[in-house]
Amino acid sequence: MKEKIKIAGLEVKGLVMNASGAKDTTWEELEALAKSETGMIVMKSCTPLPRKGNPEPRLAETKMGMIQSMGWPNLGFEKYVEFAKRLKGICDKPIVASVAGFCDEDYVKIVEAFSKSEVDLIEISVSCPNIEGHPQLGYDPEKCDELLGKLVGIGEKPLGLKLPAYLDRAQQEKMAEVIKKHKIAFVTAINSLGNCLIIDPEKETPIIKPRGGMGGLCGSYLKPVALGNVRGWWELLKDEGVAILGVGGVENGNDVVEFLLAGADAVQVATTLEKEGVGCFERINGEVEKVLERKGKKSGTEMKGKLKELS
Ligand code: DHB
Repeated sequence: MKEKIKIAGLEVKGLVMNASGAKDTTWEELEALAKSETGMIVMKSCTPLPRKGNPEPRLAETKMGMIQSMGWPNLGFEKYVEFAKRLKGICDKPIVASVAGFCDEDYVKIVEAFSKSEVDLIEISVSCPNIEGHPQLGYDPEKCDELLGKLVGIGEKPLGLKLPAYLDRAQQEKMAEVIKKHKIAFVTAINSLGNCLIIDPEKETPIIKPRGGMGGLCGSYLKPVALGNVRGWWELLKDEGVAILGVGGVENGNDVVEFLLAGADAVQVATTLEKEGVGCFERINGEVEKVLERKGKKSGTEMKGKLKELS
């Protein structure tokens, strides 16, 4: 039996869901998610107009994860408004829109549309590392403050933020003030780590094509960074009622438990979904149940934030 949890007031079945960006762009992919054991359906980050994205190869897998520079390939926000309605017709999972944009006006336009749609939650991505000339907004708390000032109050749906990795605690503390000020309902941490490069020493080339091989690092490379960021969000936001969705290197049941201990309410999965397909949710849910049983816990939620200190 998957446990029922609450994220921003919504009931979610299970502690595991997909992360925006992996196998969630087309109707066929979203339909497969609807039929899977993902707890919520998070759709691909979308822009005002459809985009083809960067030239291929733009995603490459390695043993420890992946590197990608997709460049926002998506069908344009209007399609995802339509898909949300169709998804509601075939499953009872909460639907999450992921919003991207090149300027504040893009975000405003898309949030306006999703506010009137069937989506349950709206995740604002301020952390895409792959668009040349567009710095990750999440590293600029003043700009985020300004953007959120324009988005909060557009509609009634809870807003969340998809955040980049903060490698310095002071940065994360500044962002926490912005999150508190705008009463953000949930944070998703972390996005892929930008500005990374993987080189094939035989071919003497990068393993992806865009931007000379530079892209966002994903998968188990990221797990300690993601856990550290989730712990930081838990410490900074635990009294604010902000839900925390942990993402970065979740492959199995133990990984889920580690994120819960750090302070996550639930976890998202991208690289494992990309590599294994939608069956990963059933497998990981089963593994979580076994770990909890072995530990004698009735739920994962009772472990939230309960990381022990070394004596
Ligand atoms: C893309 C990558 C991201 O990490 C993200 O958050 C949004 C979009 C992309 O390149 O498509």
